[in-house]
Amino acid sequence: MSARVLAGPPAAEALLAQTAARAAKLAKPPHLTILRLGEDPASVSYVAGKDKKAKETGLSSSVEVMPDTTTQEALLSRIAELNADANVNGILVQLPLPSHIDEEKVLSALDPDKDVDGFHPVNVGRLWAGHPHLAPCTPVGVMSLLSHYGYSVAGKRAVIVGRSRIVGRPLAGLLLNASATVTVAHSRTPNLGAVTREADFLFVAVGKAHLITPDMVGAGAVVIDVGINRLEREGKKARLLGDVHPDVAEVARALTPVPGGVGPMTIAQLMANTVSAAEGQAQ
Ligand code: GUN
Repeated sequence: MSARVLAGPPAAEALLAQTAARAAKLAKPPHLTILRLGEDPASVSYVAGKDKKAKETGLSSSVEVMPDTTTQEALLSRIAELNADANVNGILVQLPLPSHIDEEKVLSALDPDKDVDGFHPVNVGRLWAGHPHLAPCTPVGVMSLLSHYGYSVAGKRAVIVGRSRIVGRPLAGLLLNASATVTVAHSRTPNLGAVTREADFLFVAVGKAHLITPDMVGAGAVVIDVGINRLEREGKKARLLGDVHPDVAEVARALTPVPGGVGPMTIAQLMANTVSAAEGQAQ
């Protein structure tokens, strides 16, 4: 048996088309401001991708680059201005921030209704209270990918490996809201394979290449690989590896590839969150 391949790009295109149609109904294009501190190459590339996709989707966007020596006070003061600016609908502070800046303070300083990353404690609370407004892009994108391919998690056993703020935790809330029975496993879980084998839907987001091997997956499971691990190779381009070993395709019912699985959903969902922020503010 070989698993059905759940490719990200068609699902992302569908979400972007839907998002562009929602944006076009608003009085003016929603505006996303992205703040980047310093010149970390991965951040430079991610931010450029977000800015480009916003424009392609009919949104307005701007990137503000501040030096990596920016003080916390100066960053908080810029955030306060953006919060007060009625022309700005969404604000994204690219992470990681330089080590002299307190990430929690910065994320909590955003107006929760402009927090398109969904990391503000108010948005975390809305998600866990069962009525999310802006929720983190990767896990919402994962839910949207499942629904694009016709899967419902209601009444099913969902196992998540990883408890990060960006993926594992919010995904648990979203799956619970969608009526799955949810288990969150992590680095301190003994006998991980016994837990993951129970899953009808297995989600892996830990950042360890090929952690999940075929013996850890139940026959017929739907497996969602959120891991992206760079394997550097001398003289060649780095290879991207998922957290799930490709041989899992021999036992699973369906599997997302890496690259080309969940990745494109994250950026598409960021556009959707920006439109949701603007719609919320228009009311
Ligand atoms: N850096 C890596 N992932 C993310 C994300 O989802 N949001 C932000 N703001 N920064 C990131």
